[in-house]
Amino acid sequence: MDWISFYDFKHSVIYVNERHRDVHYKTIAEDIRAYVPPGGANVMDYGCGEATSAALVAEASGHLTMVEAAPNVRAALTARYAGNAKISVMTPDEAAAMPAGSFDLIILHSVAQYLGDEELDKLLVTFHRLLKPNGLFILGDIVPPALAAPAAAFALLRFGAENGFFWAAVGGLIRIFVSDYFKLKNTVGLSHYDEAQALAKLRAAGFKPERAKRNIGHNQQRMTFLARLA
Ligand SMILES: C[S@@+](CC[C@H](N)C(=O)[O-])C[C@H]1O[C@@H](n2cnc3c(N)ncnc32)[C@H](O)[C@@H]1O
Repeated sequence: MDWISFYDFKHSVIYVNERHRDVHYKTIAEDIRAYVPPGGANVMDYGCGEATSAALVAEASGHLTMVEAAPNVRAALTARYAGNAKISVMTPDEAAAMPAGSFDLIILHSVAQYLGDEELDKLLVTFHRLLKPNGLFILGDIVPPALAAPAAAFALLRFGAENGFFWAAVGGLIRIFVSDYFKLKNTVGLSHYDEAQALAKLRAAGFKPERAKRNIGHNQQRMTFLARLA
């Protein structure tokens, strides 16, 4: 079992119910949409998950490429967006094989924590190659080392209270606690970076990064970085 299979639906206890999932993806889609440059931008959302509001991002873009490693999630995305000519769904290998300079905007949101250090470095180099010279890469939801789990639990409860699923969030936290999440956390592990480490990683891959004022999504303990080609 690895993080990709954890996210491949059956084990996905990460959303406490459908309302949580949909509010989560709508919040993220609205935040991403604000970064889409005008003029028919070519956008890639890498590790997009179930992305039930991706049409919002596609609407503001020329084209949206959704990349998902988990096969069941990818199949559901393909079915969900079959009727949307502005959206295509790809595997990570297909995405890595795209021509250099294909994208105006690439987003990696809430994925870096599931990648090993070298895996992330390799992916950053791929994104550097795939971006157009004036393109923007967004590295979102970077989890700082201290108190990551309690902060995430508290942020989920608050998100639930604000969006009408507080008690479901309480139940969801209990389910996460008894799920494979903590087993995986202790065996495969999660990657944490503080601000300086994330900036250094992006610089090493050839980017000129800065920290965004707000993180994308609901958890403001986590960080988003905006990176352009150096
Ligand atoms: C928390 S979800 C993020 C989904 C979406 N981007 C969001 O912000 O809600 C984590 C995603 O990382 C993907 N993932 C985990 N490990 C991965 C890996 N080694 N390579 C590519 N994707 C991976 C999972 O398939 C899952 O879609």
